[in-house]
Amino acid sequence: MRNLSVKRALRSGAVIFFGVQASLTLAHGDVTPQAVNTETLPQLGETWLEENPYRGNEEAIRVGASGYNQNCARCHGLQAISGGMTPDLRKLNDPAEYIDIQESDQWFMTRIRGGAVIDGRVYMPPFEGILSQEAMWAIRSYLDTRKLDE
Ligand code: HEC
Repeated sequence: MRNLSVKRALRSGAVIFFGVQASLTLAHGDVTPQAVNTETLPQLGETWLEENPYRGNEEAIRVGASGYNQNCARCHGLQAISGGMTPDLRKLNDPAEYIDIQESDQWFMTRIRGGAVIDGRVYMPPFEGILSQEAMWAIRSYLDTRKLDE
């Protein structure tokens, strides 16, 4: 008897656990977002910066490549080459698309922080509160290395 109720409790616990997992998964578009370890980068504090402070920093590019692969590649494609269903993020470096790199950085931050939620539909999940500012700029540093003609 006792064993049975323990099993039942475990089973209902498992159901609750899977319920939570399922709703998290849905909220973020199928895959749980992955934390990015940014300990090896200069820390940036609380204020959101307007421009990428790590541009050209090799360590930021390395950290950002991994952050991109874990959080963005499933929608935006491996090496930021889009399959056509989502914007090709190599365009962030296309001089024809933005007035300057600062405008491109700002658009990048608007999307990565807020996602793309239109009429309640999540086309891209928001990453604010999930990825640190350091992780976001590291991903941007990696994207800097991806050019349309490469
Ligand atoms: C669930 C799929 C999905 C994931 C995951 C995702 N995105 Fe997106 N992203 C989209 C879609 C769809 C759009 C286009 C939204 C629209 O129609 O405006 C978009 C737009 C963008 C844009 C704007 C591009 C432009 O040319 O306007 C940027 C920048 C961006 N995403 C960066 C990222 C980064 C960085 C990550 C990872 C941290 C990421 N996205 C993760 C689906 C996704």
